Amino acid sequence: MKRIGMLTSGGDCQSLNAAMRGVVKGLSGFYKDFEIYGFQDGYKGLMYQNYKVMSPKDFSGILTLGGTILGTSRQPFKLMGTPDEKGQDKVKLMMDTYKKLKLDALVVLGGNGTHKTANLLSEKGLNVVTLPKTIDNDIWGTDMTFGFQSAVDIATNALDCIHTTAASHNRVFIVELMGHKVGWVALHAGIAGGADVILLPEIPYDIDKVIQCIEKRTKEGKRFSILAVAEGAISKEDAALSKKQLKAKRLNSPYPSAAYEIADKIKEKTGQEIRVTVPGHTQRGGGPCAYDRAISSRLGAAAAELIHKEQYGYMVALRDGKVVPVPLSEVAGKLKVVTPDDPMIHEGKVLGISFGDE
Ligand code: F6P
Repeated sequence: MKRIGMLTSGGDCQSLNAAMRGVVKGLSGFYKDFEIYGFQDGYKGLMYQNYKVMSPKDFSGILTLGGTILGTSRQPFKLMGTPDEKGQDKVKLMMDTYKKLKLDALVVLGGNGTHKTANLLSEKGLNVVTLPKTIDNDIWGTDMTFGFQSAVDIATNALDCIHTTAASHNRVFIVELMGHKVGWVALHAGIAGGADVILLPEIPYDIDKVIQCIEKRTKEGKRFSILAVAEGAISKEDAALSKKQLKAKRLNSPYPSAAYEIADKIKEKTGQEIRVTVPGHTQRGGGPCAYDRAISSRLGAAAAELIHKEQYGYMVALRDGKVVPVPLSEVAGKLKVVTPDDPMIHEGKVLGISFGDE
């Protein structure tokens, strides 16, 4: 009898269920007899032994279902070394559960923070295999994370819907898209949705350059401009501040988020009528697109194969169209960001999109 633990951790995304289904279908091909220990709400379930024993049929019919049937929670890696409210060592609690349940392996589906903890557990001797999920597509070591394409579809749809109303009213519209640290969603959706300006956390903007782009369009007789702005978009002035100064500035900011600050600056300098739209968590909602279903199923199958081969301490990743194992020690602590020399930035500029930098 094989006993496999499974958990989803961090912000949810589309295709988590499809990926778990893939793992379980793969395991069913390798083992006659196995049990899945599904931990509730991520690492928290592993710490406090909140789990249910599940069979393959519990993972049937969930290919197209959004969210995660196991639930999830954020358990920041930087707090893993801090004892819980009862003074207990969180890492020890997780190790104890794994040992008590006599698990053969632990399958972890998560993003960046989750991978740091998964690596720690692997270094402590647990048999860990991970799958890369997040709408942010910022996990180092994989070309693609599942959830990303579905989120880009939703973000693009938001831009498409804004297009018609923007044209009717002769306004400037700002659509704020998810991505605090990285701007992959805003970059892809911005290009797909025909945004005129795309602002990303990785490329600090000069508000005057943004305004130049809007005014050029107005002069050309264009009735509207649309800005796709990542949550973490940052001005050149703010990017020059120290971490501490920036934190203090943001704490005292009158704006709920980056888009509102940008809207205010543009309004102040141009007098244009501006509206802000924030699709927010709708970008993580609903069922997965076909692309995400396919890659998460493939990654699930690969994770099952690694378990069968007892090859632990790896994340299954997509590289150049192939699924490959990448050591957790290589993945943990790194972020895959948009670099200014990314071909999509160059191509965007050729298309006339302003990134607010030149
Ligand atoms: O999971 C990634 C993400 O959706 C980011 O794009 C976003 O900035 C953040 O999570 C939102 O986090 P929360 O759901 O905790 O508000």
